[in-house]
Amino acid sequence: MRATLVHRITVNGVLREVSVPPSTTLLAALREQCGLTGTKFNCEQGECGACTVLMDELPVNTCLVLAASADGHDVVTVEGIDGPGPSVVQQAIMATDASQCGYCTPGMVVSATALIARCPKPTREDVDEAISGNYCRCTGYESIITAIEQAAQARSE
Ligand code: FES
Ligand code: FES
Repeated sequence: MRATLVHRITVNGVLREVSVPPSTTLLAALREQCGLTGTKFNCEQGECGACTVLMDELPVNTCLVLAASADGHDVVTVEGIDGPGPSVVQQAIMATDASQCGYCTPGMVVSATALIARCPKPTREDVDEAISGNYCRCTGYESIITAIEQAAQARSE
């Protein structure tokens, strides 16, 4: 029988107990224990950003974080960004057609939301830097950058 550890993680404002083997990543725990599949599996090497969530308000690649390391921490996934309904970033992505296959979109939303929270009026360079760890194979990035700029503007009005 495989050993399991119990971790208490606040996920989208709700305290969750996850019981997982010690080597389980936060990505697997969120998807398989919490049913939050908006956070995507992809490279599992910290290179694509599809698995990005906020941990204590900072973006992290959950494929590189053990569930054990999230014990006692506050995690926000794409499902919890801005509460129910589409967030300002999600609305801007829809308005600018900045999502095609959509696989990168949850990670982009999380990274963009973190940027706007810490930098309400980001420059183009700020946006580039904020999503530099998020790969998109479909859009060429311009529409995503436009969406983030529009979201920041909408948020500051
Ligand atoms: S799946 Fe985590 S960075 Fe790619
Ligand atoms: S929309 Fe397909 S990877 Fe970004």
